[in-house]
Amino acid sequence: MIKIAPSVLSADFGSLAAEVEQVRAAGADWIHFDVMDGAFVPNLTVGLPVLRSLRKHTDMFIDAHLMIKQPQLYAGRFCDAGADMVTVHVEAGEPYDVIKSLKDVHARGKLAGLALKPSTPGSIILPFLEYIDMVLVMTVEPGFGGQSLQRETLTKMRGVRALIDQYKPGCLLEVDGGVNASTAAIVADSGAEVLVAGNAIFGREDRAAAISEIRAAAEIKA
Ligand code: DX5
Ligand code: ZN
Repeated sequence: MIKIAPSVLSADFGSLAAEVEQVRAAGADWIHFDVMDGAFVPNLTVGLPVLRSLRKHTDMFIDAHLMIKQPQLYAGRFCDAGADMVTVHVEAGEPYDVIKSLKDVHARGKLAGLALKPSTPGSIILPFLEYIDMVLVMTVEPGFGGQSLQRETLTKMRGVRALIDQYKPGCLLEVDGGVNASTAAIVADSGAEVLVAGNAIFGREDRAAAISEIRAAAEIKA
């Protein structure tokens, strides 16, 4: 079952609650909330206060993607601010700190995810599988919306899918970066089941059409 998660990075932050309500009504399954610290990635976005405010306006499942250093200091706090799932990058710190972040999320009864940059090998997930509910494979360099999907990451996606199927069936596989109606089929065919899309949804006037086109393309292949 494919899930579509619009990334608020491409939304109008001045009308965030209304933007989220619009994609909910248009058929989105989750909201993807991108957090950047200007250090792990060369860009800054939003953080705890914005998430806390958004939580008051929606009951949607919020998938927080932390592109930050020292995730162990913040993962639990993003749960407390209203995230339903918190995903941290495996490259964000020492394995001990990454595991602490994932454990903090589970301690709060929320779901935990592990994200991989395009150049990070898929096999890196193995020692973390017992601590996670989702793997996020980045198909662009994290930091900016509106980039083109890097096709060479799809081989890794297939490898991650195989590892999940073998060692942790039920663990979700999310794809993030350059997903649109033209790339949805190939990412779904490569094993992704949660599709993040920012520009392809918030960049279009007709959000319902954008979501249903991505879903239709993904479901043909899934
Ligand atoms: C990029 C973010 C993505 C981004 C995707 O660093 O993690 O979630 O918003 O944007 P699109 O779908 O426009 O590539
Ligand atoms: Zn993201």
